[in-house]
Amino acid sequence: MASRGLPRALRCARVAAPRSVLSSALPRPALAKAAAAAAVPRMTINQQPIRGLKSITFADSTETVYEREDWPREKLQEFFKNDTLALIGYGSQGHGQGLNLRDQGLNVVVGVRKDGASWKEAVQDGWVPGKNLFDVDTAVEKGTVVMNLLSDAAQSETWPALKPKITKGKTLYFSHGFSPVFKDLTKVDVPEDVDVILVAPKGSGRTVRTLFREGRGINSSIAVFQDVTGQAKEKAIAMGVAVGSGYLYETTFQKEVYSDLYGERGCLMGGIHGMFLAQYEVLRERGHSPSEAFNETVEEATQSLYPLIGGNGMDWMYAACSTTARRGAIDWSSRFRDNLKPLFNELYDRVQDGTETQRSLDYNSQKDYREKYEKEMQEIRDLEIWRAGKAVRSLRPENQK
Ligand SMILES: NC(=O)c1ccc[n+]([C@@H]2O[C@H](COP(=O)([O-])OP(=O)(O)OC[C@H]3O[C@@H](n4cnc5c(N)ncnc54)[C@H](OP(=O)(O)O)[C@@H]3O)[C@@H](O)[C@H]2O)c1
Repeated sequence: MASRGLPRALRCARVAAPRSVLSSALPRPALAKAAAAAAVPRMTINQQPIRGLKSITFADSTETVYEREDWPREKLQEFFKNDTLALIGYGSQGHGQGLNLRDQGLNVVVGVRKDGASWKEAVQDGWVPGKNLFDVDTAVEKGTVVMNLLSDAAQSETWPALKPKITKGKTLYFSHGFSPVFKDLTKVDVPEDVDVILVAPKGSGRTVRTLFREGRGINSSIAVFQDVTGQAKEKAIAMGVAVGSGYLYETTFQKEVYSDLYGERGCLMGGIHGMFLAQYEVLRERGHSPSEAFNETVEEATQSLYPLIGGNGMDWMYAACSTTARRGAIDWSSRFRDNLKPLFNELYDRVQDGTETQRSLDYNSQKDYREKYEKEMQEIRDLEIWRAGKAVRSLRPENQK
């Protein structure tokens, strides 16, 4: 079977992977964003270290990247010594960023709905009601840096109540450009007298936490939406390091939200799921068994090829596969690109004109959105491809114990 050991395409490989690359722990496909970002610094040229920032040439364009070396824990503690970091919302990002900030020895309070799922999780993580765990309003009142990590729909819903509490001199922090960029739709019009900054980790909050605990750091984007003190950028860099980032890439709120909405609907999630389904369905309709269709579509991709592409690049992948696979893959890549590019342009247009934002707000602010979402998840779980996948995964040696 193609999924046993190396895939067929690779069995004839004549190009050896660099040992260091093959032996390193390759990121899971679910962390593709972090993986892509993590892979970049290793391929850089023209590095000029200056106080923890690097001027790095990515392909033909030079960008500034900030790194955490310039911000040891003592410096972070000194920088934020007069601050209370009020972290509002304790979903994936709240959990990861909050625990990292607490471990950095900074003064953090968490604000969530009393007795909601997040409240219980925060208590389990050692946040103490009345000491560093409060309802949202109280936490915002206490905070000098208000970290809005509510769901994007909830940021919009709660804004009328929160805005008056974000008073002059405070800093407003986001991990997504969504709310302020699409303010005509979200109604999140930031106060004019506060710094507004962004740190957007390129991965799940769970990864933010795991990498920090391992002594590594996730890559994040940083941006400034509004700078009233002249210190907004420095604050964004310091916050980025404080929440557990290794490298910080500078962007704008608008570019962050456009690329993020576009990417997750495209190659990161929606597009890749669509490709999996289309390929699997054709194989099944042409008489292939579920295991063969799954192995040829998902298992070989996620278990072998995608991690290798993540570690070494597509050029390496072409060089490492059989001549037969290489010829066909190169030919068909341009067919797929030409056919898919109009769809990607349509997607970008819908992101840019706010259609995707409106759709997300409308859907996620419905009272019964969790039930509807659960119904959709059940439909996905019930798809033959993912039921076949469950059986295939159970046969992996590591799942045989
Ligand atoms: N998840 C990621 O991978 C990721 C990556 C980068 C950036 N971000 C950004 O980070 C931010 C937070 O995302 P997330 O995924 O961590 O969290 P999320 O799951 O989207 O949001 C969960 C939090 O919002 C709270 N919440 C929802 N509705 C509420 C309401 N009406 N009133 C008060 N609280 C409400 C929940 O509290 P209850 O438990 O009480 O419902 C929970 O604490 C977003 O801006 C997101 O775009 C996320």
